[in-house]
Amino acid sequence: MKELSRPVWSCNEWDPLKEVIVGSVEGAIVPVFDEAVKAITPEHAEWFFREYGGKPFPDEMIEKATVELDGLVKVLTELGVTVRRPDSMDFSKEFQTPWWKSRGLYAAMPRDVFMVFGDTIIEAPMAWRTRYFEHLAYRPLMNEYFDKGGRWLVAPKSTMAEGFYDETYDRNEPMKDGKKRFVITENEIAFDAADFIRCGKDVFVQKSNVTNEKGIEWVRRHVGSEFTIHEVDFGDMHPMHIDTTIVPLAPGKILINPEWVKKLPPFFDSWDVLIAPEPTKSEDKALYFSSDWLTINTLSIDEKRIIVEEQEQPLIDALKSWGFEPIPIPFRNFYPFGGSVHCATLDVRREGTLQSYL
Ligand code: GLY
Repeated sequence: MKELSRPVWSCNEWDPLKEVIVGSVEGAIVPVFDEAVKAITPEHAEWFFREYGGKPFPDEMIEKATVELDGLVKVLTELGVTVRRPDSMDFSKEFQTPWWKSRGLYAAMPRDVFMVFGDTIIEAPMAWRTRYFEHLAYRPLMNEYFDKGGRWLVAPKSTMAEGFYDETYDRNEPMKDGKKRFVITENEIAFDAADFIRCGKDVFVQKSNVTNEKGIEWVRRHVGSEFTIHEVDFGDMHPMHIDTTIVPLAPGKILINPEWVKKLPPFFDSWDVLIAPEPTKSEDKALYFSSDWLTINTLSIDEKRIIVEEQEQPLIDALKSWGFEPIPIPFRNFYPFGGSVHCATLDVRREGTLQSYL
């Protein structure tokens, strides 16, 4: 079968992009300030969760981010990429499991919920209660990809009940006995897809406040021997999602966040390491879920063209100097939802073949 006839096919972050899911902030609800959220929230942002937790994101934030998402859709469409969107869902509706109650969050970040390994979409179990049913906003799309012949693998969901979160976790003491600590335990399988990043047959993953060893092992066992899952650890002391730490841009070229990455695994020894310049700081510090390093959370259209936030001028200049063709778009108003263009998208279909880039 030729790759392009496959409904689902994506092996890395840079092959020519054909089809992508773009998230939506419609109906987004601010999570309550529970242990899971607290573990990754920068101190300056706590007020936001205390004020709005459990309530809708302010209308103005939703409106501005929606304009930018629509702009992203337009740019992608003009580049010839097929764009798909999640369904509307009522995230404000309280739901219940046998152990706890919660409201939803949003369907803004398909990258967190799914990852594509070749012809297979893997649905992540997630680790926040607010995100327990988030995958359902994408159910019609997943059914469609399945009906067209795609493979769809769903990881077992944790109960997220007592014992899943480590109640002794203290954000201010993220190390113990020389090892990083995380707010989730190893009792059950947990991972967010955005803790994985793909370079063909080699996939890199970090343990984080949403991804545990057991989750990584589940992926390792289920993707089979064609893929090697490399566990990596960098200097993000409150990790959640790897795509503001390392971003492979092309065969042999990896963009790194120099604040957190002091050393790369030997796999990258023959690669060009592109050191990202300092992020431009947002004036209002409205980065409620993330660091400033959303700067490098870019989306590659192919080995040359990269969508990047338009205010990140130092990165735009650096990319040009390295021979890339950045495509700047306004996306600053999306940042407060916790991601940039990489988080807001999921590349379901790219050209190319499954290869090793060692
Ligand atoms: N969670 C990734 C970051 O804050 O940059």
